[in-house]
Amino acid sequence: MQKITINKILKKKKKTPITCLTAYSKNIAQIADKYCDIILVGDSLGMVLYGMKSTRLVKMDTMILHGKTVKNFTKRSLVVFDMPYKTYTNKFTAYKNAKKVIKETKCDAIKLEGGKKIVKIISYLTKKGIPVMGHIGLLPQISNSYKTKGKNLKQKKQIFEDALAVSKSGVFSIVIECVIESLAKKITQSVSVPTIGIGASKYCDGQILVTDDILGLSDLSPKFVKRYSNLSKVIEKSIKSYVKDVKQRVFPSNKNVYK
Ligand code: KIV
Repeated sequence: MQKITINKILKKKKKTPITCLTAYSKNIAQIADKYCDIILVGDSLGMVLYGMKSTRLVKMDTMILHGKTVKNFTKRSLVVFDMPYKTYTNKFTAYKNAKKVIKETKCDAIKLEGGKKIVKIISYLTKKGIPVMGHIGLLPQISNSYKTKGKNLKQKKQIFEDALAVSKSGVFSIVIECVIESLAKKITQSVSVPTIGIGASKYCDGQILVTDDILGLSDLSPKFVKRYSNLSKVIEKSIKSYVKDVKQRVFPSNKNVYK
């Protein structure tokens, strides 16, 4: 078992697609660890697990609890911790919070959402030895709508400039979220670090999706998601059968009883 390091991720650019998924729990982390290069403890857990209206409502303590669990049950993949909203408003706050996260969760890196505006913060953290993954394009902590980015000239220019600025700030990779194909391709060809796409085409150096989405556990299914299972249906069927068995006294059977 060879641990995936940041160096290994960097070397994959233009060579091997980087595979990433989110995990918030022990059970998913243990399975994803067998196959994925990167596991992200995403703040999407606020909406996916806790039914919150926005990732802006996710608190640091909640993220730390999930981060610790995921990292504890991961042996191989690189584990990235998504810094919650307002925990990196300036470089000093960001450093204080990032140090706490790394100390308490032992995660391998953190992720910050933002372009040119947060470049000084990213540079400060990376110079202090904190590995950072960038995140540009659609920014759920800032944006109120989940519309594709880069469709008009102004947005195209802004996102491209964000990509160049973030790539020079010391990040080891950049998530590009919900961006049109041609722009994601241009960014990937122009930056030296790997790009990880979510709704950003096959031209990125790697792909990430929310695990609950690929398993068919979430209500929403944007166009960029591919569903590999329909776990909601599987769970519903199992619960229905259990309830029926209990009502008909079929469960517990002799097999389930201590004598
Ligand atoms: O929070 C998250 O899960 C994310 C991914 C969607 C990239 O940021």
